[in-house]
Amino acid sequence: MTKEEFQNLAKREIEEAKKEVSQVVDESSLNAFKGKYLGKKSHLTSYYALMKEVAPAEKKEFGMELNALRSALSELLSAKQKELADKALAEKLEKEKVDITRPGYHATLGSKHPFYAVIDDVTDFFLGLGYTVADGPEVETDENNFELMNIPKDHPARDMQDSFSLGDNLVLRSHTSAVQARVMKAAKGVGPIKVICPGKVYRRDNDATHSPEFGQIEGLVISEDATFSNLLETLTLLLRHLFGEKREVRFRPSFFPFTEPSVEADISCFECNGKGCALCKHTGWIEILGSGMVHPNVLRLNGFDDKKYRGYAFGIGIDRVAMLKYGIDDIKRLYTDDVAFVEQFRKE
Ligand code: PHE
Repeated sequence: MTKEEFQNLAKREIEEAKKEVSQVVDESSLNAFKGKYLGKKSHLTSYYALMKEVAPAEKKEFGMELNALRSALSELLSAKQKELADKALAEKLEKEKVDITRPGYHATLGSKHPFYAVIDDVTDFFLGLGYTVADGPEVETDENNFELMNIPKDHPARDMQDSFSLGDNLVLRSHTSAVQARVMKAAKGVGPIKVICPGKVYRRDNDATHSPEFGQIEGLVISEDATFSNLLETLTLLLRHLFGEKREVRFRPSFFPFTEPSVEADISCFECNGKGCALCKHTGWIEILGSGMVHPNVLRLNGFDDKKYRGYAFGIGIDRVAMLKYGIDDIKRLYTDDVAFVEQFRKE
């Protein structure tokens, strides 16, 4: 082959490649182009094989022509490569574009439900006095809920707490006092015990201040030197912590089968300030908690020596406290999934 003949071939090859490269739109057509013009089976490779037949004197020049062809083809390839890469980048940037003029989202803060705010507040208070937190199930045995709390089967005091029976000697616990039995039995007659237990309880009761489902926080202290005045002092501190100095607190003698003596603590009604209204059933007072010295029978029934140990216990209504603290007039508000209701209590 003469030099001119080869130059013509090369020219045609380049023209064809130019035409073809313009059709390349993606990686696979680019690879096909690369294989066809620069790969093992390309014309270019076969031209290199022709070198053997070229006369020695012409080898150098022929080689230069070949190299020129190869770089022309490689340039077409790399120009296309760059073009495709630029296009891909531009597309990516376009897709990821952030409109900085768009108004932002306003993330709203959640808020604690008043029921849990009270639990946390009361728990904090008692942790500060060295109490620990105990737990028990809402489905409870008749034994823990009643019998071990000194309320035998046919005792009229069972009527005080109209419970939901689940059969098989199981009830939805009617008070967190059931946890007292669990805690005492677990301690196997060895004090001291100093616990609180917040939780849900259930009774067949339904009006503006009673819901069939409500919350209590139980407290139980058992030691060799627990006294009635320790109890009154503890509860006075608690009620002042919860309601400040404004509300009046009164203790009144009461009856619970599991405590002797027993007292109830009332707080002056927040609606009428003690004058009497529907909320406080025209008494001016709202009952907040029941308490007393642990009955010797309860100590004995749960494995404690009533000659050695004394104890006091109390049960606070979580809902009552929440209603008083947050001015909620219907207990049912605490048990609806009304976001607007909870949002009222959001601290900005
Ligand atoms: N368990 C009583 C109730 O639910 C409250 C209470 C607890 C009273 C502990 C005395 C001692 O009414």
